[in-house]
Amino acid sequence: MKAIAVYPRQPNSVHLEDIPRPSLADVASDVGVLVRVLKVGVDATDKEINEGLYGDAPPGAKHLVLGHELFGVVEAVGPAVTRVQPGDYVTATVRRPGGSIYDRIGSYDMTSEEVYYERGINLLHGYLTEYFVDEEDYIVKIPPGLCHLHVLMEPMSCAAKAVQQAYEVQRRMKVWRPRMAFVMGAGQIGLLATLILKLRGLQVYTCARSKPPSLKAEIVAGMGAEYVSLEQTSLDDLADRVGKADLIVDATGSSAVAFGAMRVLGHNGVLVWTSITGGDRTIELPSDEININWVLGNKLLLGSVNANREHFEAGIKDLALGEVMHPGVVERILTNPVEGLDNYGEMMRLLVDDPLALKVFVNVAEG
Ligand code: BGC
Ligand code: ZN
Repeated sequence: MKAIAVYPRQPNSVHLEDIPRPSLADVASDVGVLVRVLKVGVDATDKEINEGLYGDAPPGAKHLVLGHELFGVVEAVGPAVTRVQPGDYVTATVRRPGGSIYDRIGSYDMTSEEVYYERGINLLHGYLTEYFVDEEDYIVKIPPGLCHLHVLMEPMSCAAKAVQQAYEVQRRMKVWRPRMAFVMGAGQIGLLATLILKLRGLQVYTCARSKPPSLKAEIVAGMGAEYVSLEQTSLDDLADRVGKADLIVDATGSSAVAFGAMRVLGHNGVLVWTSITGGDRTIELPSDEININWVLGNKLLLGSVNANREHFEAGIKDLALGEVMHPGVVERILTNPVEGLDNYGEMMRLLVDDPLALKVFVNVAEG
């Protein structure tokens, strides 16, 4: 069967690979699930793997099958599977456990090991193919009423984890009543984080470069948040106007913005970084100013990566609530379908060259 793959660390090696079709017998336990892939979303991670910046093939393989944002349908299940059945629409988590204590309790997104295993990213093949098998623990059911949001489940899980981690860590405050949040970036994670924070009742300012009118600005407004163009208003100006934020989520992919956001976080606040910055940029910072401010304000910086099953389930619930509160808004993120695995060239072109392609996804098969 067909798969979109790269030769890791070799720039622009994206190609079509012929790989064997899996079956339930490939899973050692009786909790295997065979999934037919319907759609797969791609993002900057796939682009950067194809640029050779990171990612490795599974041991013994030359190629790595891409794809970590899955929407599929269950084709067959092992005898001990209880949570899904053939015909169910599903997504799948990305990371697989290593050996640390965190991995062993299902928090593989918090592994303390340097090596991490992620389907479609590092050391494990991904979902940009026709079928795959995995254990039930990593397969998450999608409610039929959310199927129109298909490939957004995985990005939503990362946004859900980022916000959940912020609230979790802020238990240090005994009482924490965040009033206002800044979201840096209006890509998929920024927009989905905006939704989650609005659903939690915060006043949200979502900041991105481009000037409105734009699709991103409309989606932000549709979620009841305020879009701020950093070409029109600097972050300092925003903070002068509305105050410093209690919570900031950075999802820009720019380390300069991630560090810059440190200047507009309020006392006792938390700044969450979610971007994977594969480059080697360096910037100069007013470090004394930030240092004194952060100490005097008891501020906290938190990195958040990936998501486990719990975050997928929380994200799916928030998407359901989002559909009730802001019907039809989230699906506007899904801008650029690509027809079939054969069109991998077009898929990469959109990722690399099209600044208006908010979300690129491959229609692998009809559901
Ligand atoms: C994925 C995450 C992953 C991260 C680091 C992101 O694009 O969505 O699941 O943990 O990259 O590899
Ligand atoms: Zn991703």
